[in-house]
Amino acid sequence: QSLTHLIQQLPKAELHLHLEGSLEPELMFKLARRNQIQLPYADEAALHQAYQFNNLQEFLDLYYQGTSVLNTEEDFYDLTFAYMKRIHADQVIHTEVFFDPQAHLARGVSLETQLRGITHALAEARHQFNISYRLILSFLRHLSEEEALNTLEQALPYLDQIAGVGLDSSERGQPPEKFTRLFARCHALGLKVTIHAGEEGPAEYVWQALKLLNAERIDHGNRALEDAELLIYLAQQGIPLTMCPLSNQKLCVVPELDQHPILQLLEKGLCVTVNSDDPAYFGGYINDNFQALVNHLPVLPHHIYQLCRNSLIASWMDPSEKQQAL
Ligand code: HPA
Ligand code: ZN
Repeated sequence: QSLTHLIQQLPKAELHLHLEGSLEPELMFKLARRNQIQLPYADEAALHQAYQFNNLQEFLDLYYQGTSVLNTEEDFYDLTFAYMKRIHADQVIHTEVFFDPQAHLARGVSLETQLRGITHALAEARHQFNISYRLILSFLRHLSEEEALNTLEQALPYLDQIAGVGLDSSERGQPPEKFTRLFARCHALGLKVTIHAGEEGPAEYVWQALKLLNAERIDHGNRALEDAELLIYLAQQGIPLTMCPLSNQKLCVVPELDQHPILQLLEKGLCVTVNSDDPAYFGGYINDNFQALVNHLPVLPHHIYQLCRNSLIASWMDPSEKQQAL
């Protein structure tokens, strides 16, 4: 089919991807064996069988459990390189990836170890596949602002490797306003800011991310659709939404993919993009997410062009890089 071919061949950027969420069952078992860690599943099939979620929290419980196999620099290298190799096949020319340092610090894995593995793999992939990248340090919103500030302090020696900061994990009951001081400090350090908001939380959390945390992008943002004034603001300010269709389906953020708001938002003039979020858990990488939209919504070729173009526009590439990509 020609839309499938178009998806395959168009250059694109991925802007919403958690490296820990790209840990495929096969690699998880391999790293568990290498580190002599016992996983609570008999095999890869049993693990995969457990990937059925009613909400964000049920997913997060398995996601954090999965991170227990990530302990050495080599583990982080293997995780990151496998992702980069995979997206090369999807014609991704630029990617901006999140990692959750607090999840690993809690297990005694230093930031130095995490970053050495991740950045070595990113640099090697740029060399081998010509994929450019940015790294985003994401804070866990179920933990305190104090703990996030402490993590930021630990990251200060490595800020040359970190383009921006994010906020992820359990959204319900964890409003952006809880982290106002943290993101003011990040802003002062010259870090870019992107915030998960409006996935399960209300449109009000999107407003807080924009007004209180100075977010330049919103990750997910589905529930912006409930606030007409917010939609106008997002369109006028050109604030991108990094949407994740298969993630939304697996976490029951939308009842069915044919109810996904992405085309409505695109047609209202918002800069929406397509991303995979946690591909190992949600059943597909970026092109699978595009294909899922095509399978369930009245997607036309110009939508695919616009979504790919938006991903490049919304990226944090340097202006000259961006010019060239567009
Ligand atoms: N939402 C919030 N936190 C996350 C996600 C997500 O989709 N993936 C990994 N951490
Ligand atoms: Zn996410």
